[in-house]
Amino acid sequence: MSLAPAVTEPLIGIAPPSPAGPIDEAQAATLPAPPQIDLPRALQMLRFNQRQIEFVFGARRRHGEVFRMQGIVPGGPVITSHPDHVQSLFTAKADHAVSLTGESPLRPIVGPNSVLTAIGPRHLRQRKLLLPPFHGEAIARYEEMIVEATNREIDTWALNSPIALAPRMQAITLDVIMAGIFGIDGKPQRGTPEHALRRAVRGLVQASTWKSAQLAELMNIGRDEPVGITKIGLDILDRPTYQVIRERRQATDLEERRDILSLLLQARTEDGEELSDRELRDELLTLVLAGHETTANQLAWIWERLVRTPAAHDRLRDAVRGEDEALSARTVEATITEGMRSRPVIPIIGRRVMVPWRLGDFSVPADTPVTMSILLIHHRADVYPDPFAFRPERWDDNKPGTYTWIPFGGGIRRCLGAALAMAEQRVVLETMARRLDITYVDAEPERAVHRNVTMIPSAGARVIVLNRR
Ligand code: HEM
Repeated sequence: MSLAPAVTEPLIGIAPPSPAGPIDEAQAATLPAPPQIDLPRALQMLRFNQRQIEFVFGARRRHGEVFRMQGIVPGGPVITSHPDHVQSLFTAKADHAVSLTGESPLRPIVGPNSVLTAIGPRHLRQRKLLLPPFHGEAIARYEEMIVEATNREIDTWALNSPIALAPRMQAITLDVIMAGIFGIDGKPQRGTPEHALRRAVRGLVQASTWKSAQLAELMNIGRDEPVGITKIGLDILDRPTYQVIRERRQATDLEERRDILSLLLQARTEDGEELSDRELRDELLTLVLAGHETTANQLAWIWERLVRTPAAHDRLRDAVRGEDEALSARTVEATITEGMRSRPVIPIIGRRVMVPWRLGDFSVPADTPVTMSILLIHHRADVYPDPFAFRPERWDDNKPGTYTWIPFGGGIRRCLGAALAMAEQRVVLETMARRLDITYVDAEPERAVHRNVTMIPSAGARVIVLNRR
């Protein structure tokens, strides 16, 4: 029996219009600049890193839907939370609104030329090369492998004692990404470059939680090549990566292989050029780093919400354990959509506007970083009534809006791995809800802490597994 409350009011609404887009200097001069958060820069960064939810919601209460902060990117970003402003940035000409991922902390690791960090024609070229293996149909082939990786992991979990889900989810998503990208199925054998590579990736991601690594991240911002401990960590990662690439170049069965490395080795640009080892390394690392921690923490957040929302949890469990497959698929999808709305693992994305831009009642000059707070947009009360409630049933009769539900960003920079991330989340959520009875350790919600570019649950989504089928 579903415990979901009877719904009478509409669960999705529309924001009032707000003009936005490129304007000329004269128009820009007639509009004021957005209000500025009046705290010292260091304090703003600290609050943003440690208590992002409280920080951005507090700023919106005080200053409204557009404001300026100092800290996270050079030049101090303007932050907006209006869907029309999002639309203006997602549909802008590429050279009018340049992605800020080119300035991301991943840049010194993946270099300036990967699909994530490149801009302009170079970005489009890399994106075109990488798109085919990430299409929905190509992803469907990975489903069986995701099911196996999930069951293998779940079977190792201890019952009746607290476990943090985030690292457990990461073990699954790392297996999936290694299989998808390098064609490494299951756990690679010791002594192989694939084994060394998997260990190095895990080590790098774990090390990124250390305080010293966060310092290193700050030291590396804006650089093309890493320095300090980031460089040492990368050398450990690069050796097996190049070895795997070199060995795969020699493979005689490249054309039959479906993994992304093999597809990229056969890919040619419009000029008939193949990718160099360095280019391959940059793209592969981008996919590994952009692809597995995000998906793992997104799943952890969904469980952090579910175990504290019995109505939604019961509804999901009933659906996936019942006979009606269509209802099960719909409920899983709605739960993921609501989880990504309420706890978007990447809470903020941005574009640097290269011409003056209107943002509602304000204007910003050329060369301003404008960020879209996914978190704030997803919690607009006019679009999502009762925004802080976790209510998957919002999505029973509604599709996510292109500019109001944006956990994967949008436009020509929309997440390349969205179809893979959705496939992973569907399989893992469905399998866990069907096979496991799960409850929380601490009834208090977990805080959102910032790590690299992601927002993660402060205790890693701690739960207790009571039963396993
Ligand atoms: C739940 C999991 C994920 C979330 C929430 C997520 C979110 C995002 C977001 C917000 C962006 C920036 C979009 C923008 O600026 O408009 C992005 C970009 C990107 N993501 Fe994901 N991502 C996820 C999983 C993945 C996976 C599994 C992969 C690949 C294996 C991946 C690869 C990428 C790449 C390559 C880009 C850069 C695209 C470009 O600039 O053209 N992501 N992702």
